[in-house]
Amino acid sequence: MDKCTSFTVTPLERTPEQKFNFGACVTGVDLNTLSDEDIDRLKAAIWRHKVIVVKAQHSLDPKKQWDLVTRLDPNARDGHSHGNLTTFRAKGGLLAQGREVVGIPGAENVRLIGKGFQGENHFGVENHTIERGLSNDFHAVPPSMEEFEQGITRFQRWHMDAPLYGKDPAWFTTLRCITLPKGPDLTVEWADGSGQSMKTSPGKTAYFSTSQLYTLLSSEEQLLVDHSWVEYAPYPYKWIEKCKGNTTGLGLAEGGERLTDEEIGEYDPTAIKKYPMVWVNPLTGEKAFQVHGICARKLYLRSSKEEEPHVIDDVAEIRKFILGIQNRILKPEYILLAPVEEGDVAIWDNYGLFHSAIDYPISMGPRSMHQANISGSIGPRGLVPIPSVA
Ligand SMILES: [Fe+2]
Repeated sequence: MDKCTSFTVTPLERTPEQKFNFGACVTGVDLNTLSDEDIDRLKAAIWRHKVIVVKAQHSLDPKKQWDLVTRLDPNARDGHSHGNLTTFRAKGGLLAQGREVVGIPGAENVRLIGKGFQGENHFGVENHTIERGLSNDFHAVPPSMEEFEQGITRFQRWHMDAPLYGKDPAWFTTLRCITLPKGPDLTVEWADGSGQSMKTSPGKTAYFSTSQLYTLLSSEEQLLVDHSWVEYAPYPYKWIEKCKGNTTGLGLAEGGERLTDEEIGEYDPTAIKKYPMVWVNPLTGEKAFQVHGICARKLYLRSSKEEEPHVIDDVAEIRKFILGIQNRILKPEYILLAPVEEGDVAIWDNYGLFHSAIDYPISMGPRSMHQANISGSIGPRGLVPIPSVA
């Protein structure tokens, strides 16, 4: 236990079967009234524990949630990492199709996400129903309606919160839980022939650590990913808006069609993002294999600074390479279903984790969450610079 003067950080307990190595609960703090010292301690706790669940924040003012976001990265200037709502709806592609996003009046960068009827007056949002919220529509082969109603579900889509075009990813995402659906546990199935599954209460968010994933690689593989980088597509979520996901929620199903440059429309070539495959945690120095495979248009592979990179631009080959690594950690023992209850605020390190929502039958009631993050003031740092000529 890591005792502080103003709050307590307690690492999550694990059962003997569980192998994930991250997560903590924070108690004894009011996010409405944080000192600068509290902010520094919270920030360190997030970088160190990857996801923290700040308990019992029932009276949090939405404006204070945004204050918290900006104070955790005080040099960030760019607003919500996915841009304003107009841009997001026009160019958000897969993300904008998949869910309806509404800003909280008076704190528009705090976004109401979830599923179902949000009440007559939800923090000033009146009679709003999230129709296209959380759903298994992303999957090429979703569970049947009958299975779903009986409690069989999937990880929706494993990802980090990152536009991967123009703005840099948020360091942290804050997700306040207002209302959770109620009902018996669901079964999350991999449905990929592996027979893997795990139980969860409805409305949870799942996480795995991409730092822990890095430790599962051989030393040759580590050398390769340490020196390699990824080029993401312009408006990457629009690029893949016709694609569907694997049943595990990780990666795109084989054979999906990408939009052509003409279909994407005008874009700024200087806004295209190239990021190292390995992102270094600024506090702990841990290395994370942080690659958003579904948005990757080119891989540049090399095992040393001197080597000419081998370029892969075939999406089937890119998919094979990335999933060949990421699938190693997509196992129940490495996945944390964060113990978030109504009133809690989860805050996670978006540079060292992947996360996924999990759909549930609407008969279990609405889900209301307030999500906010800010485009990082400094983007991801790798181990070696990406050559500017490539
Ligand atoms: Fe997310």
